Amino acid sequence: MSDPSTAVGRSEPWWSRAAVYQIYPRSFRDGNADGLGDLRGVIEGLPYLASLGVDAVWLSPFYPSPQKDAGYDVSDPRAVDPMFGTLDDFAELVEQAHERGVRVIVDIVPNHVSASHPWFVEALNSTVGSTARRRFHFLDGRGESGELPPNNWESIFGGSAWTRVKEPDGSWGQWYLHLFDSTQPDLNWENEEVRVDALNTLRFWLDLGVDGFRVDVALGLAKDMTYPDLIDPIGMSQSLRFDLDPTSEEASQRRAGLANSALFDRDEIQDIYREWRALMNSYGDDKMAVVEAWVPPERASRYVSEDTLHQIFGFDFLVVPWDASIMRDVIGRAIEAVSVVGAPPTWAMSNHDSPRVVTRLGDGDVGLARARALALVAHALPGSIYVYQGEELGLSDVEIPDSARQDPVWFRSAGQQKGRDGGRVPLPWSGSSAPYGFTELADAELWLPQPDVWAASTIEVQDIDPVSTLNLYRASLALRKSHPGLVSGDFEFLATDDPGLLAFHRGADVVVIANTHPHWVESPASGMVLLASGPIEVGENGLRIGPDTTVWLQT
Ligand code: GLC
Repeated sequence: MSDPSTAVGRSEPWWSRAAVYQIYPRSFRDGNADGLGDLRGVIEGLPYLASLGVDAVWLSPFYPSPQKDAGYDVSDPRAVDPMFGTLDDFAELVEQAHERGVRVIVDIVPNHVSASHPWFVEALNSTVGSTARRRFHFLDGRGESGELPPNNWESIFGGSAWTRVKEPDGSWGQWYLHLFDSTQPDLNWENEEVRVDALNTLRFWLDLGVDGFRVDVALGLAKDMTYPDLIDPIGMSQSLRFDLDPTSEEASQRRAGLANSALFDRDEIQDIYREWRALMNSYGDDKMAVVEAWVPPERASRYVSEDTLHQIFGFDFLVVPWDASIMRDVIGRAIEAVSVVGAPPTWAMSNHDSPRVVTRLGDGDVGLARARALALVAHALPGSIYVYQGEELGLSDVEIPDSARQDPVWFRSAGQQKGRDGGRVPLPWSGSSAPYGFTELADAELWLPQPDVWAASTIEVQDIDPVSTLNLYRASLALRKSHPGLVSGDFEFLATDDPGLLAFHRGADVVVIANTHPHWVESPASGMVLLASGPIEVGENGLRIGPDTTVWLQT
C-alpha cells in the first residue's frame, strides 16, 4: 500500500498530514439501485476518491439502526445495516481502498445507542435498579409522583434530555437520559460492561483492517453521577451554533460552559481513552482516532496526548467567518493548542452537522469564491484536513421543503431550527437532471431531493473543466503531498499592513496569501504562482490578487 508519509521520506505517521474524505454513506452513491447510498456505492466511488488524491476516507455510521438520527442511533455497533450492504461488502471496501492507497476510518458512537439496541429493550423490560438499567442513566423523577424530569438538562436537539418510561407493569415510572434524541439513550460509562463492549467494538473493526476511528460525541461519555441542575441548561443546545464568531465573547462563554461540566469534557473521560489507546497500540503504531469534541482550544491537548487519542477536530475553523484577523487568531490558537503535546492540528471546513461552507460564507458566487479561497488556506496549513463529501464540488446547502425534512433537530425544535438536512443531499455524479447518476433506479425518490441547479455541479461536468472546484481540490491535494514546503515546512504568519489579508509561510519558499477583500489588491509577496483559487494578474507593479482569492506562491 502506498504510504504518503514514507513516500516523501518522513517518519511521521500517515494521519499527521492526511487528507481525509468524509463519506456520508446514504448520500454518497447508490451501488444496488434501490435509491439509497450504500457500501457498494463507496466501492464504485473509490476511483473517483483516488483521483481526488485523498489519503483516507471516514465513513459516517453504516451500522444497523432505525435511522432516527441518520445512523447515529446504532442498534448493533458490530454489523452492517442491510440497507447499506453486508460485512463482506465492508471487507471488500477496505481491501479495495487499501489497494488504492486509501485508508479507512469508521465512526464509533460510544455516548449512546439506539432505543432499539437489545440492551435498552432489556432495560425497559427490567425493574428499577436492575443490571440492565444500570447500563444507562435511569433515574426517578422529581415531584410528588416522579412526574417531573430528574433535573433541568436539555437535549442538544431541543427539549428535555429526559424521557419517562412505562414500567413493565404499565405504570409511569423512571426517566432515562438522552443528550440527543429520545431514541438515543445515553450509556452509563461507569458501567464495566459498557467499557468492555466498546473495546470489543474497536477490536471488531480493527480485526477487519480499519485504520482508524472518528469518535462521536467524544466529550460526553462521563457524567456527574449526582446529576446536578445546570445553571445554563439552554446553553447546551445553543453550544453548537454555526453563526457565532468563534473569537466572540459569547462563543467563548458557551465553550467555557462545556469545559469540564456536569456532562461534558470531564476529566474521567481520559481514562476511557487511555484504555482505547492501549488497545489500538496493540495493533501497531499506525492506527489513529480523531475525536469530535467541541472544547475550548486549551482543553484540546487532553484528548490527544501520547497516551490518549491522536487527533481532535479544530471546530473553531469550521465556523470561522471570512475575516483575515479572526482566521489568523483561530489558526494560531488551534496550532498552539495541540502543539504542546506534539499532536498535529486538523482543519475541516464542513461536515454532516454544519451548513455547507459555500452557504456559510455567503452563498452564490461570493460564497463559492470564499469557500475556494478558504480551501487553499486550509490545504496549506500544517496538519490534516478533513473534506466533507460534496465540498470538493463547491455545493451549497439545498433548500429542503419542510415536508421532506428528516433531521430530528427539526422535529424536536418544533420547526424552530431547520436542522442539518440541507448539507446531506445525495451527490450529483453525472447527467443533467436528478438523480444525477447517484442511483440507477428509475424514477428514484431520493431521501432528500436534489435541486435543478446541480446539472452544472456534477462530477462529470467538473472533471473536464480545468477551473472547476473539483480540479482546484485535486491540484491542491496533489501539491500539499508533493511540495516539500507544504509537506513539512515550518509554519509562520507573515505580517502585512493590510488587515484584510491573511498571509503565512510554509518552509523557506512557499507563501500563502488570502485576500478577503471584495476588491483586487497588490500582493505583499512575489514569486511563481503555484495555485490560485480565483483571478490573479501580473501588472506593472507585480502580482495582483482578485477579490476573495487565495494564492500559493513559490518565492
Ligand atoms: C454527533 C454527530 C451528529 C449526531 C450526534 C448524535 O454530533 O456528528 O450527526 O447527530 O453526534 O450522535
